[in-house]
Amino acid sequence: MVVNYYRPVEVFFGEGALDKLGEVGRRFGFRALIVTGRESARRSGALDRALNSLRSAGIREFVLFDEVTPNPTDRIVNRGAEIAVKEKVDFIVGLGGGSALDVAKAISIVSSNEGSAWDYVKYPEGPRLIPYYNRPVICIPTTAGTGSEVNRYSVITNEIRKEKLVISHSLNYPKVALVDPDLTRTMNRRLTAITGFDALTHALESLTNRVENFIAEEHSVRAVELIARWLPVAVEDPENREARRWMAYASMTAGVAIDHMGVALIHAMEHPVSAHYPHVAHGEGLAVLAPYVTKFNLKGNPEKYALFAKLMGYEEKPERAVDALLDLTDRLGLPNTLKDLGVEEEKIERLTEDVYMLSRHSFSVNPVEPTLEDVRKLYEDAYHGRV
Ligand SMILES: [Fe+2]
Repeated sequence: MVVNYYRPVEVFFGEGALDKLGEVGRRFGFRALIVTGRESARRSGALDRALNSLRSAGIREFVLFDEVTPNPTDRIVNRGAEIAVKEKVDFIVGLGGGSALDVAKAISIVSSNEGSAWDYVKYPEGPRLIPYYNRPVICIPTTAGTGSEVNRYSVITNEIRKEKLVISHSLNYPKVALVDPDLTRTMNRRLTAITGFDALTHALESLTNRVENFIAEEHSVRAVELIARWLPVAVEDPENREARRWMAYASMTAGVAIDHMGVALIHAMEHPVSAHYPHVAHGEGLAVLAPYVTKFNLKGNPEKYALFAKLMGYEEKPERAVDALLDLTDRLGLPNTLKDLGVEEEKIERLTEDVYMLSRHSFSVNPVEPTLEDVRKLYEDAYHGRV
């Protein structure tokens, strides 16, 4: 079997990596667009550090775009792209959680090509437009979960259509990732838990789905091992630098794994949930769905689920994978049912249809290919809490 392994993102990893921004930015020009959220990077001091680094490298022209929200929309991307074009920026910096990084990358595509953000998202039939150019992007994550700093994905929500889809294209890679684990120390417990669970789900789904890539799989395995050990520590002791360092690394490495092997049904079923209920964080939705979908999937890849259980510190048996997930969500204080998340029972039909309309391409890579009836039943079980 021939496997492909492609790594186009240059990584600087370690405490202080943020301060490389000016030096790295200089390679791309003198006018920067800084993409971030309204508050957290400002409050934590990360934004000031980023701007100082740019200034000290002689980059004095920058435009701040601080309108990124969780579950970011295509409208936010389009607005950022308009600014990038109007201000003729040379490069884009994404500073923040997965949303800021995803938006920075998508702005690069939209500001450099025709059309708008929704033209580039991938429906099962493919995107409406293919980009042919991009602007350089530097990604600086302040959470440990998404892995967006090293992969080609941007997850974008369309509020009007109530759809959450992914831009997935080789031009959507950032040029450079500055991964500074110190930036994640200001995350509170809840954010640490939900973003960390996202990283774990990336590792779990890439490890167990039907895409084979033994090189990338090393990343999934290592990520599970590290998250099992360090996520509870990071949640319980937020200042613990070792835990923060290993979680930043695990998140990045799981981001590489999904870049090659993709995700599967847990993500396919989560996206409609946070599309219809934008108050639901991606990681929370995953935490609720993961045990149910995993139980359904076990027979499709018992060997890998047994390995996952072992890496999580359990007996090497496939069914123990479900226990590992349930115990972890309990320990992290994450919700257990869709009802807890505020999902309405009468919405299950629509969520099921959306999985088919928007994500059915993931059915064939899922360990067990589901029918729509299976998906509906999984939502019902997750709603009532019947594992
Ligand atoms: Fe995810």
